[in-house]
Amino acid sequence: MIQTLAIIKPDGVKRGLIGDVIKRIEEHGLRIVAMRMMLLSKERAEFFYAAHRGRKFYDSLTSFMCSGPCLAMVLMGENAIGRWRELMGETDCTQAAEGTIRRDFATDIQKNVVHGSDSEAAAIFEISCFFNRFEISA
Ligand code: CDP
Ligand code: MG
Repeated sequence: MIQTLAIIKPDGVKRGLIGDVIKRIEEHGLRIVAMRMMLLSKERAEFFYAAHRGRKFYDSLTSFMCSGPCLAMVLMGENAIGRWRELMGETDCTQAAEGTIRRDFATDIQKNVVHGSDSEAAAIFEISCFFNRFEISA
């Protein structure tokens, strides 16, 4: 059983997409084992996305991520990392497959509604940014 970090980004929260996203997660058989809504500071957004430091979109991405509350979740299940990324679809919504969250809801490459860890190492780091072990009901 693998855990991954999922975030409904500020655009998704603002547009009232929490219910739609959670419905897809549950219908897909992924278990939500932790959940928290929070407004990130710019410093925390920069720490979370430190792997992207230096990329041309880093500053606008981290500003966007603290433009309103996010809903962070830990998802658990077999191949949870890959299955959640499959549900999300490609980063660029114009390239995302039909039926994916980003294809159905994203408005551009940045405001793409959801985040998901891309590896086990990333999942461990990213989960630790939002939750301690007593907050995960695995
Ligand atoms: O989120 P994902 O892992 O699919 O993509 P990423 O390459 O790790 O990029 C992280 C986030 O940066 C994306 O989800 C977008 O919100 C944003 N991004 C952007 O604003 N402009 C780009 N050219 C690429 C990504
Ligand atoms: Mg990524």
